[in-house]
Amino acid sequence: MERSTRILLTGGHGFLGAHLVRALTRAGYVNVATFGSRDHDLTREPEVARALAEHAPEAVIHLAARVGGIGANRKFPGTYFYENLLMGVLLMEQARRAGVRRFLSVGTICSYPKFTPVPFREEELWDGYPEETNAPYGLAKKMLLVQSQAYRQEFGFDAVNVLLVNLYGPGDNFDPETSHVIPALIRKCVEAAESGAPAVSVWGSGSATREFLYVEDAAEGIVRAFERLRDSEPVNLGASREISIRDLATQIAELSGFRGRLEWDPTKPDGQPRRCLDTSRAERLLGWRARTPFDEGLTRTIAWYREQRLASAREPSRI
Ligand SMILES: NC(=O)c1ccc[n+]([C@@H]2O[C@H](COP(=O)([O-])OP(=O)(O)OC[C@H]3O[C@@H](n4cnc5c(N)ncnc54)[C@H](OP(=O)(O)O)[C@@H]3O)[C@@H](O)[C@H]2O)c1
Repeated sequence: MERSTRILLTGGHGFLGAHLVRALTRAGYVNVATFGSRDHDLTREPEVARALAEHAPEAVIHLAARVGGIGANRKFPGTYFYENLLMGVLLMEQARRAGVRRFLSVGTICSYPKFTPVPFREEELWDGYPEETNAPYGLAKKMLLVQSQAYRQEFGFDAVNVLLVNLYGPGDNFDPETSHVIPALIRKCVEAAESGAPAVSVWGSGSATREFLYVEDAAEGIVRAFERLRDSEPVNLGASREISIRDLATQIAELSGFRGRLEWDPTKPDGQPRRCLDTSRAERLLGWRARTPFDEGLTRTIAWYREQRLASAREPSRI
């Protein structure tokens, strides 16, 4: 892709989007445009068409999504299904009609079957139904892959796809209603350390495992995928490191300076039993590997969150 390519990035004001704007700029792209849902609601077809007409992109990177942790996925399964499905379907169709030359979709590990053998290989993506708590979200996003392959076959539309594991890093969503596990644990541990609370309650049994990718590494992987992928087969982007929620909580408690007890709440769901991606396809096709050590990424994320808390104490509307 030429560095002057007009790129339209949906979801560019979000957590990953803000890092991806910086990664594209570092890579030399000078025409990157983005917008928020108030400018163009991508669940409405006329708005999608208007966004494409206004920006006249040559390439689209689609990140916009309704995203949340297990709690939000259980509370809003219909909304997550409907909005994510609609955004992808409408945007890719309108982009094709508008003559967009390249379309990259960002998918999710939540699309994998509940009991995929670990590490998850792209070939196993269709071997079963996803874990129930995130199936509506994961399946809605999985349709981007089907649409990409169908559009390439019928229209020669150059659509490519990556699948991301759970992300973490500065700028993440720390809202207790919708946050993922890492920001949720950081928030609880930092608050408990500050208040001197004796215990922190943690969802589930602690036995489930997860894999986490530092958001800057993810952004670099997406730039590589945008430049190098040549077909619509999915490519996993992950850190290839599995950790139990119990070990994760212990590590976050230590790094946050929380010295009290972790109390497990088995009435809350664990979600998918195990998660970890095989990233050999990404290494082969993109020459990409995650670089940030986990403790370093966590330390930076905790430091960022503490700064936000200090700033919001000075200026309460900030957080
Ligand atoms: N975070 C993770 O751990 C993770 C893991 C795997 C995959 N992903 C994927 O990565 C992408 C980015 O996730 P994220 O964590 O950065 O999410 P995020 O911070 O919630 O950002 C999502 C963005 O989507 C925009 N959006 C939502 N609904 C929209 C609508 N109807 N019209 C236009 N824009 C809309 C939002 O814009 P406004 O703020 O203006 O409403 C927001 O900026 C998503 O596709 C997600 O599925 C994320």
